[in-house]
Amino acid sequence: MGRKRLLPGLTIKDGFTRHPFDVEHGVQTSGLVSGRHLGTGHAHDRHSTAYYGIAPSVFRELCARWRSTSLVAPSQDYTFIDFGAGMGRAMLLAARMPFREVIGVELNPVLAATAQKNIDKWNLSARARCPMRIVCQDAIEFEFPATPCLAYMFNPFREPVIKSLIRHMESSFARRPGQLDVLYANHEFADLFEKNQRWARLWAGPIPLSAEDDAADREILNNQPDGEYEASSEEPSSIFRLTGQHKEAKRL
Ligand SMILES: C[S@@+](CC[C@H](N)C(=O)[O-])C[C@H]1O[C@@H](n2cnc3c(N)ncnc32)[C@H](O)[C@@H]1O
Repeated sequence: MGRKRLLPGLTIKDGFTRHPFDVEHGVQTSGLVSGRHLGTGHAHDRHSTAYYGIAPSVFRELCARWRSTSLVAPSQDYTFIDFGAGMGRAMLLAARMPFREVIGVELNPVLAATAQKNIDKWNLSARARCPMRIVCQDAIEFEFPATPCLAYMFNPFREPVIKSLIRHMESSFARRPGQLDVLYANHEFADLFEKNQRWARLWAGPIPLSAEDDAADREILNNQPDGEYEASSEEPSSIFRLTGQHKEAKRL
């Protein structure tokens, strides 16, 4: 029986380097896979950016910023949803916090299968503080649960998909204003939320990477054979709330 072929970007010759998060926890979330290698046959494939796991320090800080906003319910009542979950690094980090549930939505079945293995390890080692599951589907097809929700995105897809996802979020939460917040890391298309009257920006700014994450990212990105992506010591990010009201009328 032959060995399964790895996605481009996950082999040593492609410059694959393990992130310290994986070394510490014995999971598999490292690697950089360009969007053009993530094809699944879905019409949205061409809007996919890339697979790359979030710097843990950035994710923790973004969640801390969110917790310091005025939440409509205790954070343990929220369902956390990672749109474009990849191999699940952010899901694993989120499950260390007491959410009601952590859900990952991932279009690519190979990445989703790796995320499932990581989830199994997290559960076995009792590191998860809440239930976790990964669904292999397009972000727009996701049906939101009837709880307050915290959606998270690490720049997973380009404008056409973000626009459709925003519309899907607005119709899903039309009757429950305030129950959906969005964490958007590396927020390339944040203006789509900014200029939309139904959304309020709760916070925006650059989040610096820890020294360890910065060094790891630089090593990983310096090892790319074609130097397609650049390292940065901070991640421009924002947090939005779907108020459903016009900006002038809203009270947060
Ligand atoms: C930058 S990675 C995010 C990794 C992970 N969220 C994290 O923070 O560690 C973006 C992921 O979005 C996925 N993706 C792209 N388009 C998608 C879509 N339409 N629906 C669901 N997932 C999608 C890609 O396959 C890729 O794994």
